[in-house]
Amino acid sequence: MTRYTSYGYQKIPASDKRRLILGHFETIARRYDLADALLSFGLHFLWRRRAMHRLHLHPGARVLDLCAGTGDFALLAARVAGPDGRVVACDISRAMMTAGRDKAARAHVSDRVFWVQGDAERMGLARESFDAVLVGYGIRNFVFLEQGLEEIFRVLRPGGRLVAMEFSIPRTAWIRTIYHHYSFQILPWAGKLITGTAEPFRYLAESVRVFPAPEQIQKLMTEKGFAKAAYEPLSNGLAVIYSGEKYE
Ligand SMILES: C[S@@+](CC[C@H](N)C(=O)[O-])C[C@H]1O[C@@H](n2cnc3c(N)ncnc32)[C@H](O)[C@@H]1O
Repeated sequence: MTRYTSYGYQKIPASDKRRLILGHFETIARRYDLADALLSFGLHFLWRRRAMHRLHLHPGARVLDLCAGTGDFALLAARVAGPDGRVVACDISRAMMTAGRDKAARAHVSDRVFWVQGDAERMGLARESFDAVLVGYGIRNFVFLEQGLEEIFRVLRPGGRLVAMEFSIPRTAWIRTIYHHYSFQILPWAGKLITGTAEPFRYLAESVRVFPAPEQIQKLMTEKGFAKAAYEPLSNGLAVIYSGEKYE
């Protein structure tokens, strides 16, 4: 029986979502970093630093950067984990990872970052093999969020931590009004100017709106077995950091 899932404001067959998302990122891969920096007004640099802080990484850690894309989180984690650490950067898009691999070489961390093409919802990675899992702007794109969280839980070692950063809706009404205008009127237009296509940015605006509220994600994480499930809104809630631990 065909299973349906949300794709922005539409309900579509699950297998179509994976294909559409992959298509977006394959198309914008070369310009992704520029779009990320410009369209977040540089805020993502601050948000990433905060997310890394919440991961409590130690030298020698084994880290999974899931939905790694061009690997910004993988590179930050590789620096903290140091020469004895190992970072697996996993993504469905080869084009995104190709851009990331070049960055890892320039940052001199290629020896400890391993690129794996795979689906977050059924990873071919061993259970309990990571001390920490990071997901940057990835969980919103999962076809079935529950399945993705179960997979993350499976690959974490007992005591390991998950940190996921995701876009959200601002909390203050007047900021929300500006954000609404920005994300539906300006974002697709500016995104097209930078990457050549508007559709991924339309999807982004819609998907942020249909994604469950932070309180619901926190509840779901607890239901899936994560201890100390918590969330921290950033920049009036434009982004949210989710965190949780696997029981010892
Ligand atoms: C918005 S980008 C974020 C990239 C990176 N984590 C960052 O912080 O900039 C989302 C990434 O998730 C990947 N992705 C989407 N669905 C995925 C899935 N089911 N499994 C693995 N990767 C996925 C996309 O290919 C894309 O590279």
